[in-house]
Amino acid sequence: MKFGNVVEELVTREEFSLEKARQTLANETIAVIGYGVQGPGQALNLKDNGFNVIVGQRKNSKTWDKAVADGWVPDVTLFDIETACDKGTIIQYLLSDAGQIALWPTVKPYLTAGKALYFSHGFAITYKEQTNIVPPKDVDVILVAPKGSGTSLRRMFLENRGLNASYAVHQDATGRATERVSALGIGVGAGYLFNTTFKKEVYSDLTGERGTLMGAIQGIFAAQFEVLREKGHSPSEAFNETVEELTQSLMPLVAENGMDWMYANCSTTAQRGALDWWKRFRDATKPVFKELYEKVEAGHESAAVIEANSKDDYRKILDAELAELHDSEMWTVGAAVRKLRPENN
Ligand SMILES: NC(=O)c1ccc[n+]([C@@H]2O[C@H](COP(=O)([O-])OP(=O)(O)OC[C@H]3O[C@@H](n4cnc5c(N)ncnc54)[C@H](OP(=O)(O)O)[C@@H]3O)[C@@H](O)[C@H]2O)c1
Repeated sequence: MKFGNVVEELVTREEFSLEKARQTLANETIAVIGYGVQGPGQALNLKDNGFNVIVGQRKNSKTWDKAVADGWVPDVTLFDIETACDKGTIIQYLLSDAGQIALWPTVKPYLTAGKALYFSHGFAITYKEQTNIVPPKDVDVILVAPKGSGTSLRRMFLENRGLNASYAVHQDATGRATERVSALGIGVGAGYLFNTTFKKEVYSDLTGERGTLMGAIQGIFAAQFEVLREKGHSPSEAFNETVEELTQSLMPLVAENGMDWMYANCSTTAQRGALDWWKRFRDATKPVFKELYEKVEAGHESAAVIEANSKDDYRKILDAELAELHDSEMWTVGAAVRKLRPENN
């Protein structure tokens, strides 16, 4: 299919039906290892789509209890990680990226010839010098990376929609890697799948979440909110003009019809101003995005993630930083503004 002027390879539900996906994986046991955010979304969608799925999760953990609460049955469809890896012919490695490094010596011996090792992020393989994750040569190494949270993957599946995902084949040992990855992508509930490589997936993903999806957008919100507050605007006015109008009114329109349509359908005053200023914001931030991409490419970002998230008290440190954001004036005001929405009353 053509995107702009570029032709890209896609897997769609029309060409690769759910029925075909089921037939492709009819003799496979899919072991979903890890039941954090992606684990539940992918495992439940696969199960509801009629695939043979088991879950591997360490015991004596709240996450084990969550898997039981979701209907996975201990010793039938829910096992410890080692047993699930032993039973699985496809191992969906969905531990946290730091957990994947820690558990690799445990998981690797179960990757016998002909099995498939599946990731939802190119991280472990791309940064192999840092993760030490190097799969045996006689297994398929494949990737399906849903472009969103596991929670959205599940929610959209239940609404009969589908989250887009990328797919990649790193190693095709069996000659079946492409059909296996296509079937798994359709099985986990992807709307459609676009082709990538492990490296491109991780570079774009790390750039995106540090950039417009999370880091840059929070930075831009904070900058505008602070300027409005410093210039004497009330907290509610500053929040409404910075965040609320964007998320409640404009972004749903952008999602439906694009930014071009949204521009074309707002006031001529807003159009004039936005057309005059957007390129200045692009030019001001482009060097930062370039630096970010180069840090991702050089492995600095992955090293920082591994270092921080491998510490025993990583959760405590993260929680303290998240609390700072939660307690900031902007998001305290946001909570009050959300409460005032008529639908929340
Ligand atoms: N979050 C998303 O929506 C999302 C989106 C796209 C792709 N991905 C990718 O999908 C993969 C899974 O991500 P996620 O966000 O779902 O992971 P997550 O929620 O952080 O994963 C938590 C899971 O890993 C287990 N775990 C962590 N450290 C462990 C250790 N040392 N030993 C044993 N188990 C350990 C946890 O068990 P306990 O609870 O017992 O600690 C839990 O089952 C990653 O490669 C991620 O990059 C995630």
